[in-house]
Amino acid sequence: MAKVIVGATMSLDGFVADQAGGVDRLYPDLVALRGTAYMNSLIDETGAVLMGRRTFEMGDPDSYVGDYEFQVPIFVVTHEPPRVRPKEDERLTFTFVTDGVESAVAQAKSAAGDRAVQVVGGANIARQLLEAGLVDELRIDVMPVLLGAGLRLLDQSSLANVRLEKLDVQDVGVRTSLRFRVQ
Ligand SMILES: NC(=O)c1ccc[n+]([C@@H]2O[C@H](COP(=O)([O-])OP(=O)(O)OC[C@H]3O[C@@H](n4cnc5c(N)ncnc54)[C@H](OP(=O)(O)O)[C@@H]3O)[C@@H](O)[C@H]2O)c1
Repeated sequence: MAKVIVGATMSLDGFVADQAGGVDRLYPDLVALRGTAYMNSLIDETGAVLMGRRTFEMGDPDSYVGDYEFQVPIFVVTHEPPRVRPKEDERLTFTFVTDGVESAVAQAKSAAGDRAVQVVGGANIARQLLEAGLVDELRIDVMPVLLGAGLRLLDQSSLANVRLEKLDVQDVGVRTSLRFRVQ
């Protein structure tokens, strides 16, 4: 059964986006990461991607095909699918899930087969999944930047009940990659 991994890149002071919703300062290594063992292993283990509607809208929806690192089925949790379907091909398809995160996880797991469901953002979806006990692994890449303000990933009091076990710490260039099993 596919495991569900929530991943995010976070500033040292705990933000996953700046006050304007931007992530540029969190990804100075975006180009440098391409083709590294770290990225290749992430790509190999990923059978489906899950994201919230705001994360989906961060970039040009038509640019996922061909451009995005994960050329796999993508599941977007939303209250209302976009009027125009984004570009798809035989590997990267979009499913807009309107009946909640549990349904989105079930559909993404089924598409992922024996590979993982990679939850790539944002904070809203990550919190709902953690609260619902639907996450197997939490991966936080810490960037040595201070944003001062912005969007926090894990600032909900209900998350205080989530129990974590450290699995691994890796140096990946400028980032420190932390992996935790969610118990
Ligand atoms: N640093 C990182 O690693 C990283 C990664 C990804 C994103 N980000 C940043 O995170 C921000 C986006 O995250 P976010 O927390 O604001 O939003 P998000 O989790 O990406 O998306 C939230 C949206 O998803 C839809 N949604 C959520 N739960 C739903 C439910 N149960 N049923 C139906 N629809 C539901 C709603 O959209 P509708 O009501 O419009 O349908 C909601 O507004 C951006 O600023 C982005 O730059 C950072």
